[in-house]
Amino acid sequence: MDSPQAPGRRTFASDNWAGVHPEVLDAVARANDGGHAPSYGADRWTAEATRLLADHFGPDTAAYFVFNGTGANVVGLQSMLRPFETVVCAAGAHIDVDECGAPERFLGSKLLTVPTADGKLTPDLVAGAVTGIGDEHHVQARVISITQSTEVGTVYSVEEITALSDWAHAHGLLVHLDGARIANAAAALGVDVGAFGAAAGVDVVSFGGTKNGAFGAEAVLTFRDESTTSLRFIRKQSMQLSSKMRFVAAQFVALLTDDLWRRSAEHANAMALRLGVGAARIPGVTLAYPVQANGVFAVLPPPVTAALQSDYPFYVWDEATGVVRWMTAFDTTESDVDAFVARLAELMQALA
Ligand SMILES: Cc1ncc(COP(=O)(O)O)c(C=O)c1O
Repeated sequence: MDSPQAPGRRTFASDNWAGVHPEVLDAVARANDGGHAPSYGADRWTAEATRLLADHFGPDTAAYFVFNGTGANVVGLQSMLRPFETVVCAAGAHIDVDECGAPERFLGSKLLTVPTADGKLTPDLVAGAVTGIGDEHHVQARVISITQSTEVGTVYSVEEITALSDWAHAHGLLVHLDGARIANAAAALGVDVGAFGAAAGVDVVSFGGTKNGAFGAEAVLTFRDESTTSLRFIRKQSMQLSSKMRFVAAQFVALLTDDLWRRSAEHANAMALRLGVGAARIPGVTLAYPVQANGVFAVLPPPVTAALQSDYPFYVWDEATGVVRWMTAFDTTESDVDAFVARLAELMQALA
């Protein structure tokens, strides 16, 4: 077995273990050909990427490019909240468990976490968490943050998001969508990425580029005037304003040209489905969640997990339940999947 660091070796650890899509790299190289260009986003690539995003999300879209997903979430949420206001999110949301407390530190706001069966919030679940409104002793719920696709690989339908937005707006709340894998969700449902923006009542989107084949390119999108007026300043103060912005923006131009975002996401999703189907056929292996995007969550006996990890690095999602996570990317191949499933079958057989 090659080491995971061997050239060309692909794993199922995360979609951010994948390299950069060649079309993205080409676009960056082309942006470098033109000599000097204005800095801080006053360049033509930023204008073009912003125009392309507006083609998907509507003419009232304001786009702010940033370096990473945690930054996109924190910057976007800052434009929606005051410190005594709070974010309602699913327990296990990236903003809750995987951002080292950055939202709490930089927003100064509490997160209200809600347990879910499948990573998805519903109006009923949120309603149970929104209490004490108007009471100065209680934090005031202001934003519902959802993740699309979710941290457990499930996907909200457009109708589910719209129902949450309708509920939020009727109760004086706003909606933030962490779209680190927005492309995978759109490809899974066969809709445009723009279906998860203002069209579904969402106020601010963190639009992920990195897991879709870019490197260090994410965007905060808003369709809300109050966020638009403050986001330029919040981004700079949050140290997420790139001086050589053209190289971040050029990556979005590539993703949004010839539907690269969709081609890559559809492929990653198809590989996850192949992996999920293959794994579920092995006696003793069960899936913890349905495979709806590019993540597969399986329950394995711990000795099999340990043996498989020594060939293929991947993360244990929940030690208590034995759930492991496998992610696919734009460059995962059918033979990668088949070899992985074959090795898993061998290890399960050996244990039987
Ligand atoms: C759901 C979700 N949101 C946001 C992010 C972005 O994180 P990062 O700050 O590592 O780019 C990730 C990355 O793992 C993620 O899975």
